[in-house]
Amino acid sequence: MSILTFKNVSKTYDKMTHALADVSFSVDEGEFVSVIGPSGSGKSTLLRCVNRLVDATRGEIFFDGHDIIRAGKKEIRQIRKKIGMIFQHYNLVDRLSVIENVLHGRLGHKSTISGAMGFYSEREKESAFQILSKLGLTEQAYKRCDELSGGQKQRVGIARSLMQAPRLILCDEPIASLDPSSSKVIMDHLSLINKNMKITCIFNLHQVDVAMKYSMRIIGITSGRIVYDGPPDRLAESKIHEIYQSNEGELITDVR
Ligand SMILES: Nc1ncnc2c1ncn2[C@@H]1O[C@H](COP(=O)(O)OP(=O)(O)O)[C@@H](O)[C@H]1O
Ligand SMILES: [Mg+2]
Repeated sequence: MSILTFKNVSKTYDKMTHALADVSFSVDEGEFVSVIGPSGSGKSTLLRCVNRLVDATRGEIFFDGHDIIRAGKKEIRQIRKKIGMIFQHYNLVDRLSVIENVLHGRLGHKSTISGAMGFYSEREKESAFQILSKLGLTEQAYKRCDELSGGQKQRVGIARSLMQAPRLILCDEPIASLDPSSSKVIMDHLSLINKNMKITCIFNLHQVDVAMKYSMRIIGITSGRIVYDGPPDRLAESKIHEIYQSNEGELITDVR
């Protein structure tokens, strides 16, 4: 059962920049998919078209019964409730505590007033603590986010997205600012969330080897076009060079 479908999607920011060109693919429920490609190839644009942080210029996008491109404001709010997003730079409120940041994941589900006043039910608080415990952050619950390491901050980002009870999690370069051991912790958590909670995950990565190790499917994009879509074990070295438009020997892989 597909949860997300792109049909001939293009995005031009201005006449010169074709960030996505005729992109078509479908993601099944429960998949763990990575999108790889060089900087500027359109990875962030692709993810952002899903939750309408970016408006696609042409084509069709369907997610969980919603026609994303034609959705009005109210429907976009419904859609965003079902989609968690994790960012390279975490996007936390640094001066607030970990638990407050995690509870922010519920904001999409609340009225503006109760959200703004910081009203959360006992059930929401309990669930926030349970999620923190799963991510090994119980002891950090009352710390301010600016006291945390990068890896801890990213785990708070994951916890916040889980508070939404999302159908899909989009991860835009979730480990690009982390050292190898924190990167592994984050990828292991995302992988477990996918397996145990059956949440579909799509993540942008620039590290080919991480994508090969963790994902069941890799989508390779170059200049806004899909040039590979398949399992990691069929991604030939020559295809990797094509994706990164590099010559043999100058390919950059971070060994993580
Ligand atoms: N807000 C924007 N306005 C204009 N051009 C943009 C904007 N965002 C991205 N682009 C351009 O679109 C292309 C794809 O960018 P992006 O999706 O960020 O790629 P990636 O995430 O793979 O680095 C690049 O050429 C980038 O400069
Ligand atoms: Mg990007």
